[in-house]
Parts: sequence; structure tokens; C-alpha cells
Amino acid sequence: SQAAPCTVVIFGATGDLTHRKLVPALYNLAVEGELPPGVKIIGFARREKSDEVFRAGLKEINPKVSRSGHEAKIWDPFEENIHYHQSEFQDVDGYQRLADRLDEIDNGRGGKGNRLFYVASAPEFFDDILENLKKVGLNEAADGCWARVIVEKPFGTDLPSAKHLNEVVSRTFAEKETYRIDHYLGKETAQNIMVLRFANAIFEPLWNNRYIEQVQITCSENLGMEGGRGGYYDKSGAMRDMIQNHLLQLLSLVAMEPPTDLSADGVRDEKVKVIRSLRQWDTPEKVAENVVRAQYTAGTVDGVSRVGYREEDRVDPESMTESYVAVRCMIDTWRWSGVPFYVRMGKQLPKKATEISIHFKSPPSVLFNSDSSGTPGGNVLVIRIQPDEGISLRMMSKIPGANLRLEPVKMDFHYATSFGKGSPEAYERLLLDSMAGDATLFARRDEVEEAWKFVDHIERAWHESDNAPPMAEYTAGSWGPKEADDLLKQDGNEWRRL
Ligand code: BG6
Repeated sequence: SQAAPCTVVIFGATGDLTHRKLVPALYNLAVEGELPPGVKIIGFARREKSDEVFRAGLKEINPKVSRSGHEAKIWDPFEENIHYHQSEFQDVDGYQRLADRLDEIDNGRGGKGNRLFYVASAPEFFDDILENLKKVGLNEAADGCWARVIVEKPFGTDLPSAKHLNEVVSRTFAEKETYRIDHYLGKETAQNIMVLRFANAIFEPLWNNRYIEQVQITCSENLGMEGGRGGYYDKSGAMRDMIQNHLLQLLSLVAMEPPTDLSADGVRDEKVKVIRSLRQWDTPEKVAENVVRAQYTAGTVDGVSRVGYREEDRVDPESMTESYVAVRCMIDTWRWSGVPFYVRMGKQLPKKATEISIHFKSPPSVLFNSDSSGTPGGNVLVIRIQPDEGISLRMMSKIPGANLRLEPVKMDFHYATSFGKGSPEAYERLLLDSMAGDATLFARRDEVEEAWKFVDHIERAWHESDNAPPMAEYTAGSWGPKEADDLLKQDGNEWRRL
């Protein structure tokens, strides 16, 4: 279905996300001609600001962050539809004023309209925002219209808080009007995982423990706590910040069974089964065996020297928060029994890259096993989520010449060359989907809760047990701690080099 005209209300409108991602995404949609006509944007936040000042701030940053650059002829009319609404998040009156404003807008549209509430404030205000929307009836839609809510991350900080938030959300909006955003699902390449698997007949027969030896999911970042992020991050850590959501979502797309159809629930039913089948690392011993946590120490990334994690601004000098995690995930299903999925994420690593690699078993070593020919390794299928989005397949080839010698070669698909254009930003797709009422690429309640269950056991072993597994170290600019290499070595494996 088509994205419908609506008013988008962004809570937390003075924040980074609004400036760097949300408004630029809406602007890019306008550039592409995909934004439904008549979309209005209201930024809701605490600071006093006029429409003009709010717009000027957005306009200033847009050229730097928008993938389409900045064109006055598109920006100027786009900007006229942006307004600012000042209110405390706790203040019901502010919501009543908001309701009046929305009615006014809708009066100009035949008396009613669709409304999309985007909750992107600091998480401590999520409850207030949802409850106040309900108090003034903004959760209800006029006949033939809709009222939807997008909830940004973090969706809770553990299972009890996620359940609580789910309760608050479900008292306010029906599940089908609730969109829990995980922007990794909006990435073009993440969406392509299902297409690769289910629109090609050659992969699926091999997509199981008979042919696949191991799977690796790596998200490497070359930044640390820039932009005052330390305060948030030190309370969160890599596990909560990225594994619980983005990386477990990728894992579920790789490991899921074929859905019965492409409906939101068809797909999410299968994804949640994967998360539910994760073997739980529910004792400190199991956590020590299967999970590595680490912090970076001072080093150099991209030629720039960086301080250690504990020296970062707004980070506790004795912090026990991890800036790196590696986990061995075991999915106890018929398909994946015995296949380790190694998932790792780290800040201050050598480069920004996210990829999934599927490592197939080696062929029997009966033919090409002598030193002179070289031993054939297994085939490796790499899905590059970002940057240089694409897919490559590593296979063995004969080196031309009189002797029989083998060498791995790559078959490579690059989005940029095959399609001649860059991919849209994740938020563009997700905003359009929410306007069209398609929740396929949003996390469902049970998915979020199952993922927290898995993560909570590990967090508890780290922070609440007497024999908590240690915190390892890695130098900023390196590929992570030695302990993470050892984790794979125990299985006779090693991390793929990115
Ligand atoms: C966010 C995390 O959800 O995702 C950040 O809070 C992280 O810590 C970011 O840097 C990564 O997103 P992307 O799209 O840049 O890979």
C-alpha cells in the first residue's frame, strides 16, 4: 500500500536524531518525489524556539547529512511545512495545545487527517509522552484515518523495562499501529537478505548445518564517544546498544525459516522463533565460555590518537561498561544445530563496516590436498551491509599455468555498479513504511522481549554475580581483544578479516 499524507509529530525534536536522520530522511523523500503530498512536520521539544529558529537549525545541518545534498527549490517549500511546538514532556496542557494545532491543520484538509507520532526523546520521557497522548485523545484517529506511533530505541534497558514500555504502548496504541524502529532493518542490504535467500533457488538447499560450518556477523565502528555520547553509552554498553537490537535482527534474518508470506506477521513470526531458539548463556560460567566483553585503551584510529574508553568525556573512570562484545550464539533448531553464529561489535576499531559472512564447509580433502596445490578452504558468502553494499562469494580457482595450484577468488556484486545509484537511507524506507501501514521492517513486541531475555542473562552475569567474567582490553584502532580471537580458536575458527 501507498504512504498516506499525514502530520508527523517528532518528540525530542531538538535532538541529534531529528537533525541528522529524521528530517534529512523526509527531505530526501521529498527530493525523490516519494513524500506523500501535504506531509507536515511538528517538532515537539522542551526548549523555547520559534519555527524560524527551528527551521534554520535543520537547514544548516541538512547539506552535511542529506544524501541528496541540498537544493533550495526543494528545501524551501519543504521547510514551510515544518513547525515547532514547545512543551515539557510531562505537561498535559502542551499536548492539549498540540491537539488543537493538529485539528487546525486538519481543518485545512477537510476536517480530519492521519497522524504519526515519532517518540525520539530521551527514553525517560517515553512513558509520559505516551500517557499524555492518550489523556488528550491523540491516540484515537478520526473515522477513516489513522494514528500511529514510532518508538525509537532504546526499547527498554532490560526485559522488565521493555515489558513495562510495551504495556504502556499497548494501553495507548493497538499493536498494528505501533512501530518499534530498528534502523538496521531499513538498510537496503538487510532487506536483501531475504531476497537473496528466497528468490534464488541455489542457496536455500545449502542453508543449514549440513553445509554451513559457521556464520559471522561483524559490526565494526571507527568512532568512540564523540558528541557527548559517553553519558548515554556508559549506562548502556555494546551489548544493549547494538547486539540486543541491530545484530540480533540481522542474525534472525539470516537464520529464519522461509515465512509463509511476506506479511508483517508472516516474517516476524519466523524471526522471533530464531531469537527464541537461542541457547541461553544463563550462568556466569556459560557467559565466560561464550561471551567476551572489552574496553578500548588509548590508541590510534585513522591516524588520529584516541583516549581510552575510561578517559572519555562523561564515562566513569572505573566504568565496567563494554565498548566491544563478541558472542558465540547457538541456535537450537533442526536447521542450525551445531553451527556457531559469532556476533561481534566494537567501537574504535580500524574502520566502519558491517558484514555477515556465511562459511561453508570445506570439500573433502581427497583431491587437492598436497602442499603443491594448496588446500581448498570452504566457500564464503559475504553480505556487506555497509559500506560498499554488496555480496561476494569466495571460491577456489586454478592459478593459470602448467602446474595445478589453487587460489581463492571472489565473485563480487556491488550495488553501486549494478544499480548505478546509492541506497536510500534506512530511515527513508522506514518512515514511508510507517506511513503506508507496513510493519514488516519493525520489531514486534515478542521479538524485543525475547532478545532482552537473551541479553539479560549475560548482563546479570557481568554485573550481578560474584564470579563475573573479566573485562578484556583492546587498543583503539586494533581489531579487538585477543580473547575474542581465542573464542573462535576454541572451535578451530578465526574471524574473517574485513
Ligand atoms: C545506533 C547506536 O543504534 O546505531 C550507535 O546507538 C551506533 O551506537 C549506530 O553507532 C550505528 O548505526 P549505523 O547505521 O551508523 O551503522
